[in-house]
Amino acid sequence: MLKNHADNFVNKLETFNSIEGWCNQEQFFTLEYILSFLDNIKGDIIELGVFTGKSAGIFNNYIDEGETLKLVDMNMQYDTINQNIKKLSDKTPLVEWHNEMTWCINSFPQGQAKFIHIDAGHSYDNCWNDLNMSLPLLNDNGIIAVDDFFMDIYPQVTEATYNFVGDPNHDVKLFLYSGHKAYICKSRNYENVVRYVIDNFKEYVDLTKQPYYLNKSSTFLDSRTMSIVPIGDNKNIHYYRGLDEDNSIFPNDFINII
Ligand SMILES: C[S@@+](CC[C@H](N)C(=O)[O-])C[C@H]1O[C@@H](n2cnc3c(N)ncnc32)[C@H](O)[C@@H]1O
Repeated sequence: MLKNHADNFVNKLETFNSIEGWCNQEQFFTLEYILSFLDNIKGDIIELGVFTGKSAGIFNNYIDEGETLKLVDMNMQYDTINQNIKKLSDKTPLVEWHNEMTWCINSFPQGQAKFIHIDAGHSYDNCWNDLNMSLPLLNDNGIIAVDDFFMDIYPQVTEATYNFVGDPNHDVKLFLYSGHKAYICKSRNYENVVRYVIDNFKEYVDLTKQPYYLNKSSTFLDSRTMSIVPIGDNKNIHYYRGLDEDNSIFPNDFINII
């Protein structure tokens, strides 16, 4: 339920911001929102690259009976991760630990993950291989997030991600860019995800009172990717920003072209 995710964001924000790690407030905001789409979808959550467990602590809240949080890191900080998961999640951690290179995910069961967070090695090869190994593990409604997308110091992550998404054999779409993460779904699930993101964004912002808007500055025919953007000085933008060319108000002008 969207409200649970908004409440979790609001109630845990201070603790979240006090924890050392790479995940920031904007990323927490969008991760909770995207995880709300997956509420009724069964499956594991996999994280490649855990560090102190700041993002893993968010994910642990959404592990239900019969599901596991599979954490993969070649330098696993067990105690710190466990402590941070407990700070950020009210659930007993249901963690499967994999203290190895990300290659170990080749042995994970296929089609059983609802969410995969890729944030381990940041070379082109690491990102490319992690994406290729992740796709077969994803269930049909699942989502992959790639961290450090469009991060100026990791241009190779952007390049690997676009090359992966651009290969028609993978049959995936990059539906959202937010807080230096690329969010990717299977093509057959694209329309569902996009509709959910558009339809619920205003309510999520109202519940969390966070200064972000949903942006689609060119048509869906032109590009499939939306973005979530900090309002900053654009105080006249309320929830949504539409096409550059005619100042239209997204999503009222959203036409189903899929
Ligand atoms: C950026 S940190 C992860 C941050 C965490 N996801 C967060 O948001 O708080 C990257 C982590 O990936 C791990 N790592 C890097 N390359 C790896 C590889 N090839 N296999 C497994 N772990 C790797 C590092 O040990 C490090 O803990």
